[in-house]
Amino acid sequence: MKNIVILISGRGSNMEAIVDACASEQWPARIAAVVSNKASAGGLQFAASRGIPTAVVDHKAFDTREAFDAELARVIDGYQPDLVVLAGFMRILTEGFVRHFEGRMLNIHPSLLPAFPGLHTHQRAIEAGCKLAGATVHFVTPDLDHGPIVAQAAVPVLADDTEASLSARVLKQEHVMYPRAVRWFVEGALTLAQGRVTHQQGASQLLIGD
Ligand code: GRF
Repeated sequence: MKNIVILISGRGSNMEAIVDACASEQWPARIAAVVSNKASAGGLQFAASRGIPTAVVDHKAFDTREAFDAELARVIDGYQPDLVVLAGFMRILTEGFVRHFEGRMLNIHPSLLPAFPGLHTHQRAIEAGCKLAGATVHFVTPDLDHGPIVAQAAVPVLADDTEASLSARVLKQEHVMYPRAVRWFVEGALTLAQGRVTHQQGASQLLIGD
């Protein structure tokens, strides 16, 4: 049984999708805890309603990023994680934190990386005239929104798209892709070599949505 710790900052819809898939598909894993840097994160209530332990480490209570990350790592380690899943966790992480969980920490970013790291990805894709947008699940490295790519989901950008309509189209695919990618990790189906991730049985790491 692998232990998964999920980090959120907000509504936690990706976390919900992972919790549901873990239960309904009977993964060889449990969600050991959901941890947030904000007590107001909506997803905490969902997690608690499923009987999942929750914890809050408020970044505002710490003077430095290093001090916050040290406490966050201590709390996470208390759940003995095999995998740490960032699901809308809106904090820039220090190199020390990332190295501590290297090779066992995934993130989802709402763009087709390496395009559009950072914030406001959907608006930037629309303004750039992109015809394709999407999301990426990747291993976390010290470089923000970089790291070996585990899976990508692509959707069209329509002529009348707004940030809201495009993000909703992408999010629907995120909810399919992220649970799938996390399951691959807990099943030990991923190989990481030379910065590239492959699925040992050749499962498609590309999802095309509409
Ligand atoms: C998602 O779009 C995810 O890609 C990004 O933040 C958003 C989180 O949404 N990192 P939710 O909290 O999972 O609903």
